[in-house]
Amino acid sequence: MRVIVEKDKEGVARRAAQFAAILVRKRPNCVLGLATGGTPLGMYAELIRLHREEGLDFSRVVTFNLDEYVGLSATHPQSYRHFMQQNLFDHINIDPRDTHVPDGRALDFEAYCAHYERLISDEGGIDLQVLGIGSDGHIAFNEPGSSLGSRTRLKTLTAETIRDNARFFGGEHEVPRLAITMGVGTILESRQCLLLAAGASKAKAIRETIEGPITAQITASALQLHRDVIAILDEEAARLLERRDYYLEVERAQAALQTGHFGRIDA
Ligand code: PGA
Repeated sequence: MRVIVEKDKEGVARRAAQFAAILVRKRPNCVLGLATGGTPLGMYAELIRLHREEGLDFSRVVTFNLDEYVGLSATHPQSYRHFMQQNLFDHINIDPRDTHVPDGRALDFEAYCAHYERLISDEGGIDLQVLGIGSDGHIAFNEPGSSLGSRTRLKTLTAETIRDNARFFGGEHEVPRLAITMGVGTILESRQCLLLAAGASKAKAIRETIEGPITAQITASALQLHRDVIAILDEEAARLLERRDYYLEVERAQAALQTGHFGRIDA
């Protein structure tokens, strides 16, 4: 896993947006996997800026979101569809028909989840999947104990996730108990993953994800099995990483390779 440490959450947002923008420019019809939550907000703001000021073109981009609360309609202020409209889709030139967020009001969830998986594969799979991480180590709503081979399905939220997300609702009792979520197996099939984390509350989950054993108790740790994951962290989220100095050295070497100044590497 490549680990990039930025000074603060603004740095994480800029760096993450850069990766997405490079892909969109290189492959205008790419498939982006998107996440909600506080973490990717800055990244989306930067993508909107790149669209407005530098003409970053989303007209052929296709997106799939990771998850949605069960029971919330697309217009509910806390639904993830609403979040995506407000924080990204309404401000860029993406075709609304190409934006996919699971339907929290589907009538037959089993059939709907299989349909969502099919939509992803019909588009050729996800090129770049953006991921936040829960303080319990979840990716999407794959709570501790989720199968590491899981596919899109319903999931019951843990008390910790309900507590973490209560700030967006009128309190814990308002948070839906169920969500539709892409599975860990679905996520592992994307071609590249960007794992974003900022703030001290993520430091423990990040250490366990990157340096701990692979375990269904920390579903993000399954990313160790993926061949192309880039973790972009701020200083606080990276605080507990034991091999932090090595990750910084790797980035220095990478930069040297790119500029052709190999320095000590080829000495
Ligand atoms: P956050 O949520 O970005 O709001 O911290 C991340 C998550 O729970 O996956």
